[in-house]
Amino acid sequence: MTDKTILRALRGETLPTPPVWMMRQAGRYLPEYRATRAKAGDFLSLCYDSELAAEVTLQPIRRYGFDAAILFADILLLPQALGVDLWFETGEGPRMTTVTTPAELAALKAHDDVHDTLAPIYETVRILRRELPAETTLIGFAGAPWTVATYMIAGRGTRDQGPAHALKAADRATFAGLIDLLTEATIAYLSQQIEAGAEVVKLFDSWAGSLKGQDFEDFAVAPAARIITALKARFPHVPVIAFPREAGEGYIGFAKKTGADCVAIDNSVTPEWAAAKVQIDGCVQGNLDPKHMVTGGPALVEATRHVVEAFRGGPHIFNLGHGITPDADPENVALMIETIRNG
Ligand code: CP3
Repeated sequence: MTDKTILRALRGETLPTPPVWMMRQAGRYLPEYRATRAKAGDFLSLCYDSELAAEVTLQPIRRYGFDAAILFADILLLPQALGVDLWFETGEGPRMTTVTTPAELAALKAHDDVHDTLAPIYETVRILRRELPAETTLIGFAGAPWTVATYMIAGRGTRDQGPAHALKAADRATFAGLIDLLTEATIAYLSQQIEAGAEVVKLFDSWAGSLKGQDFEDFAVAPAARIITALKARFPHVPVIAFPREAGEGYIGFAKKTGADCVAIDNSVTPEWAAAKVQIDGCVQGNLDPKHMVTGGPALVEATRHVVEAFRGGPHIFNLGHGITPDADPENVALMIETIRNG
């Protein structure tokens, strides 16, 4: 049996054509996504409706034939399962009740008490394993503890993660306790996704770049290493992709330090730099600037070829450097895939 292309790349194989998928490939740039979200009512209802969540996961696979599907859910469902209130303000983003005191931390549920709330997500995974084409890899995911903590501490997204940095400085014990709880809960959550049928899991540390020096080691590297070590003990053959976004120099050695099978790279670094500094240790994923999905044209073709060429010498999964944005043109996604596969 020839294995799926993404799994081959994750095992370290250099392929003539890189497999491709996109962060946020099921999203608002697609009219069929917007129609299904309207049917569900709102974004969170869509996440918890297993049939409809599976449907939006499948939409970009049908339209484009991506090599991987990513489970449709959100990194903020885990804190919700731990007991915080979560809602989305239209046009603004997530809002949640904050956790900043020892009492609020103690009031959260235990790390392994999240599965009743998250059961619909596991059901989405089971539906997808039945319905995806045989060649398409199913990726599960969770947020990394630091990134999830930044939302829980601030109660919303922040430009500089100021509230989380402030709590880390003012009450180290509460901050570290929250990171600890999230680390254990993430292990429990990803384990259940794998049991349900996820073939690969990805850890999204979107705000890793704001951790400097020893903080990066303590709160980006160490939790990822703990999560990956625990998952590998239970599921030695399930590859893990880590995305410490905007880590810069922190990308160097990240796979070795954490045990990740692949490091996803954002577009603040060049593919040549990432090939020389990161791909020498194994598979990398990335890193086309998502703006090309809006602007298109010859610049998109040239930039896509550039990424493919730079990573040609080693294992590579083509992706954007961050999620595709709602203003992207679906035709540009088709042009990107055509360029990757046919030159
Ligand atoms: O990649 C995928 O398509 C899989 C599903 C997925 C979503 N969010 C769906 C989503 C994944 C992997 C995420 C991860 C996520 N969620 C991250 C880490 C990756 C990143 O983007 O940096 C973060 C920080 C979140 C939290 C979150 N969810 C924010 C800040 C927002 C609002 C901003 C926005 O893009 O609207 C969301 C909402 C969200 N998550 C949407 C989708 C498709 C848009 C919701 C809608 O339909 O209105």
